[in-house]
Amino acid sequence: MTTILAIESSCDDTSAAVLRDRRVLSNVIASQKVHEQYGGVVPELASRAHQQNIIPVVDAAIRQAGIGKEEIDAVGFTRGPGLLGSLLVGVSFAKSFATALDKPLIEVNHLQAHVLSHFIDKPDSPDTPEFPFICLLVSGGHTQILLLRDYFDIEVLGTTIDDAAGEAIDKAAKIMDLGYPGGPVIDRLAKEGDANAYRFATPHIEGYNYSFSGIKTSFLYFLRDRLKEDPDFIEKHKADLCASIQNTIVSFLLKKVERAALDRRVRQVAIAGGVSANSRLRSELQRICAKHGWRAFIPPFSFCTDNAAMVAIAAHFKYQRGEFADISLPPYTRGS
Ligand code: KG4
Ligand code: ZN
Repeated sequence: MTTILAIESSCDDTSAAVLRDRRVLSNVIASQKVHEQYGGVVPELASRAHQQNIIPVVDAAIRQAGIGKEEIDAVGFTRGPGLLGSLLVGVSFAKSFATALDKPLIEVNHLQAHVLSHFIDKPDSPDTPEFPFICLLVSGGHTQILLLRDYFDIEVLGTTIDDAAGEAIDKAAKIMDLGYPGGPVIDRLAKEGDANAYRFATPHIEGYNYSFSGIKTSFLYFLRDRLKEDPDFIEKHKADLCASIQNTIVSFLLKKVERAALDRRVRQVAIAGGVSANSRLRSELQRICAKHGWRAFIPPFSFCTDNAAMVAIAAHFKYQRGEFADISLPPYTRGS
């Protein structure tokens, strides 16, 4: 039996989780509301909020797990990629805590953690993917098509050459004045709209790569022209606009995923990251997989956006391999 305490602080969520083997005993997340008024994450404010949250969040995770500190076998932490000031808080805390407990440290890559969240033991759906499988990782900072041959044997098949998919969705929401983060709002409003009401061009990009900056610009120009004719255009057509831009982005994402799975003859496809909470992405993935007779893996909502349970499961597999981190390791901001 292995008990891992894990810490996630790469962006604007402070999270701590306790995992016993592959089962989540607690997964506490403090989301930072301070960024809403700025329409995006302000790194300096994120770092300060992590400093305020980290001790109460870790304390709550241990209490909710119903364990004593001495039962922790190792401390996992997100080392990167992410915002430096945010990462530093979680990394420093993890190092001090592990030192105080005299337990080993395990460094985790945030992107791998998102993908490995599929291996968390979920009592309601015991199914986990079998290797090899393809995973579309879509978040506010990343968009990648990955081929997993093993937990840590991951080939990046494609990536975005500019904005991430979540960033494009958030920017579209900002253009329509829907607040931040706009993904969940677009998802909700889109349910009342017609996904084919408007068409926005998607670029032709080599291989399995993506580009989202053009979609955002064509959405902006389209609205600018319509607003000249009717200043209330956005208000009158909000649901159709949300459904159409969401459909454009989801179709673009899944077209390449489908191509990659066909080319690589892989019959299992997963999604991960914040945007995998999107209802259209979830239903369209299921439709495409059903069409080909493939298995679709869709994470529960609680493991889509940033959380420490996913960091804990990645740390769990590293613990089994005896891969521990040196206390001198600094965080890193970039890289996959
Ligand atoms: O993984 P995550 O929590 O943080 C990063 O590592 O970036 O992802 C956050 C992103 C934001 O862009 C947010 O708008 C998007 O995930 N998101 C959604 C939905 N829920 C969160 N996008 C579309 N539909 C949703 N339901
Ligand atoms: Zn993330």
